[in-house]
Amino acid sequence: MKRFALKTYGCQMNVYDADTLRTALLRSGWEESDDDSAAVVIYTGCSIRDKAEHKIWSDLGRHAETWKRSGRPVVAVTGCIAQNIGKDILGRFPWVRVVSGPRSIGLLPDALAQALTGGECIDLRDRDASAYHAIGVPPVERENRWKAHVTIAHGCDNFCTYCIVPYVRGRFLSRAPREILDEIRQLVATGVREITLLGQNVNSYGADFSDGYRFSALLRDAASIAGVDRLRFVTSHPKDFTADICDAMDDCATICPSINLPIQSGSDRILALMNRSYTLERYTATIEMIRDRFPDAGVTSDLIVGFPGETEVDFNASVDALRRFRFDLVHTAAYSPRSGTVAATMDGQLPEEEKNRRLNYVNDLQRGIALEINKSLVGKRFSILLDGFAPRGEDTLQGRTDTDKVVLLRGGRGEDLGRFALVEISEADHWCLHGSLIRFLD
Ligand code: SAH
Ligand code: SF4
Ligand code: F3S
Repeated sequence: MKRFALKTYGCQMNVYDADTLRTALLRSGWEESDDDSAAVVIYTGCSIRDKAEHKIWSDLGRHAETWKRSGRPVVAVTGCIAQNIGKDILGRFPWVRVVSGPRSIGLLPDALAQALTGGECIDLRDRDASAYHAIGVPPVERENRWKAHVTIAHGCDNFCTYCIVPYVRGRFLSRAPREILDEIRQLVATGVREITLLGQNVNSYGADFSDGYRFSALLRDAASIAGVDRLRFVTSHPKDFTADICDAMDDCATICPSINLPIQSGSDRILALMNRSYTLERYTATIEMIRDRFPDAGVTSDLIVGFPGETEVDFNASVDALRRFRFDLVHTAAYSPRSGTVAATMDGQLPEEEKNRRLNYVNDLQRGIALEINKSLVGKRFSILLDGFAPRGEDTLQGRTDTDKVVLLRGGRGEDLGRFALVEISEADHWCLHGSLIRFLD
């Protein structure tokens, strides 16, 4: 029996890829195991920031001893990191026998089998940024039984100046609607209740089609599939978020009122340097449109502090934006130069201490805002999909509201996972709500 272990880092795009790979391997006779008994350990790694890459470097080093002793396990590195620095990884660790880029995933199962028989290292970094080798299976072998992500478009053509993604994931390529809808049907057939459509910029889905089929049409078609109790989508791009998306959300009750709309900066000068293609005014108009139509929508965002040349004035504009928009959650990051991107060579790179000072400041501010928002929900009732155990505590279940708030429910039982529950919020933290069960809804 060929045994593999999977170690996945990074965003949901990597998780989706790793889940499809797991499914393909299990279907072709492999067995999943822990690292110690695996013949092949497969890392799917992220390159978005320096820190993300460091994690994998240190993990890869840990195989030295068993490799010297037994020549096992064979290690494969895939995902964005492999495309970015796969060559360095191959040169550094003799136990890494396969590297493969995100768009070559369909070639991996055969490559892994071949690597087990010895021979040369296999280098499957993507050579053509427009080609795509699909693996052709839905991600049915996942960690979470009730929720699944479905990638609707590969790559990204936006080339924000700080970002490595267009270089490692290649050109924007929408998957055919029929392929996506079929995949959703297959997922629902295995008991999935919540689907999240996934892409670096889901709003531009279909921009590469000639028949006018766009993201809002896909939303409507996906929402109409029987068994899809909830439909979400990430990530939206402020330059492409149009009113027809709100129309689809209005018309289809299963599309959740929760939107991630990364702002990245509150300063027009920095937004232009970032090549984000919108101004604060345009961003504001989009948020207002969303909140006019869905006053209770959960709205989250992403923000980078310490971009090259970011002055105190620019930084304060980002701080003001957080105060003004009062997001439910913000993924904040200190700017990390990525080699090969435009921003990495810009003048005005800021020292680490200053970037960290700014990061701590916005994190403190946002924590306070999120706590205030969450406290205002105490006493309210929500329907949540119970989707797992809370990080700490065996007797506490966790679920999410349609607005994507985490709710912890004490006294839950494992057999209630996968059910919708009506809960009343009793307490609030900045990152979660605590609720008590009113009744199950199914
Ligand atoms: N496609 C999405 C985000 C993809 S990357 C978008 O357009 O917003 C996820 C997040 O990582 C980004 O929103 C950004 O905030 C952060 N990020 C990307 N590159 C970064 C870098 N070089 N340094 C710091 N944060 C970065
Ligand atoms: Fe990166 Fe910009 Fe593409 Fe998002 S839209 S993946 S930030 S280049
Ligand atoms: Fe990382 Fe690649 Fe996602 S770089 S954030 S895993 S698209």
